[in-house]
Amino acid sequence: MASRARYAGKVVVVTGGGRGIGAGIVRAFAESGAHVVICDKDESNARVLEQQLPGAVFIRCDVTREEDLRTLIAETVRRFGRLDCLVNNAGYHPPAQLLEDTSAQDFRQLLELNLLGSYTLTKLALPHLRKSQGNVINISSLCGAIGQSQALPYVATKYLPREHLDPAMGDAGRLLARPQG
Ligand SMILES: NC(=O)c1ccc[n+]([C@@H]2O[C@H](COP(=O)([O-])OP(=O)(O)OC[C@H]3O[C@@H](n4cnc5c(N)ncnc54)[C@H](O)[C@@H]3O)[C@@H](O)[C@H]2O)c1
Repeated sequence: MASRARYAGKVVVVTGGGRGIGAGIVRAFAESGAHVVICDKDESNARVLEQQLPGAVFIRCDVTREEDLRTLIAETVRRFGRLDCLVNNAGYHPPAQLLEDTSAQDFRQLLELNLLGSYTLTKLALPHLRKSQGNVINISSLCGAIGQSQALPYVATKYLPREHLDPAMGDAGRLLARPQG
């Protein structure tokens, strides 16, 4: 049973927080006393979660749109005055596909969602996370470490967060980054 005091007063942003793993993360932080910002491009599930969980608010945001990400961080800090944790969770695993059936256009779109969204949002969050000595949690995938057949674009987008983001975040100064998944 989570203690409501564990993260009391802490402010957490979870991307893709409306459904699946992200919704579970939102619930766990909210039940531990944190204010949680549910970032999602789809409204319906996120609104239900917002109603169910005291301390959770929904901000619509497509992580592939830099303008949305700027608004997400600005609005979070305006409402709560701080940011303690960013969970980069929004992502997609396309159906299995042979290499010759993949397209560069689809690969680019997956990079925008699974990788560049986390990169841009982390950069925007850094000044606030430095102040709070906060954390970044990157929801990666075991596929990024061991590979997966018929999933080359997905594996590529999950490799960097899993294998190389820790040292990069260390360079950012006193931040703890933890790849998960
Ligand atoms: N499900 C698994 O078995 C598994 C295993 C390893 C890693 N992961 C990773 O965990 C993360 C979550 O996976 P899941 O299975 O819970 O996914 P899911 O499809 O159930 O949920 C993803 C959520 O992200 C949102 N989303 C999608 N595109 C978005 C965008 N552009 N901007 C904002 N929100 C967006 C969706 O609306 C949805 O609410 C992903 O990064 C995935 O790669 C999943």
